[in-house]
Amino acid sequence: MAGDMDDNVILVGFMGAGKSSVGRILAKRLGRCFVETDDMITAKEGRPIPEIFTAKGEPHFRALEDEAVRLLALKRGDVIATGGGLPCQDGRVEALQALGTVVWLSGDLATLCERALRSGDRPMLHGKTREEIETLYKSREPFYAKADLSVDTTRLNPDQVAAEVLKALRVRARPPHPALSPRGGEGYKAPRPPPRILSPIGGEGRSSSRDAASATRRGLSR
Ligand code: S3P
Repeated sequence: MAGDMDDNVILVGFMGAGKSSVGRILAKRLGRCFVETDDMITAKEGRPIPEIFTAKGEPHFRALEDEAVRLLALKRGDVIATGGGLPCQDGRVEALQALGTVVWLSGDLATLCERALRSGDRPMLHGKTREEIETLYKSREPFYAKADLSVDTTRLNPDQVAAEVLKALRVRARPPHPALSPRGGEGYKAPRPPPRILSPIGGEGRSSSRDAASATRRGLSR
């Protein structure tokens, strides 16, 4: 349902966004294969990700991600879930966009963290304070925000998120009538809601006072 059957659907987002569970559901609904970059890495290294971090450190893990991205060039029509840090370097989102439609599974940070801490062992969260996690998130958000589509997962379960992604892919595959588009229907991009809580690095601007109030309610504000 992405542009054509050769197009991959590539899920990006912070830890706890639900990329794996949503990806599996999407693949099933689209009749496509499901691939996870973290699985490619653990299969190559023969050990789980926390052990890779402990034994060889984050730089080694990031080099393995580089290699995984090179291998993704062989994929056609798959649903691909990426690790939370994989898109977060210059040129990386663009490299993923060359392989298909990039979808950001966003959400408010408190919800993402709560999910991430509940499921799986994530070395990037080990021993981190809330402030450090927020700083990490802020440094990553501008990369996620380059995605072609985004779905806010905050109040949705994986089935609902998958349904929203399918809807957004359908809209994107069927551009509006040229008469309805100011630029003759060229380059249609599905609308993306503004990020919910955090502003970009150094960032004035995108979080609203309502978001700040909701962050406060969720105990995120310092
Ligand atoms: C990481 C996220 C993890 C995994 C690794 C590093 C990150 O994947 O790739 O632990 O840097 O955010 P998930 O996003 O699936 O948790």
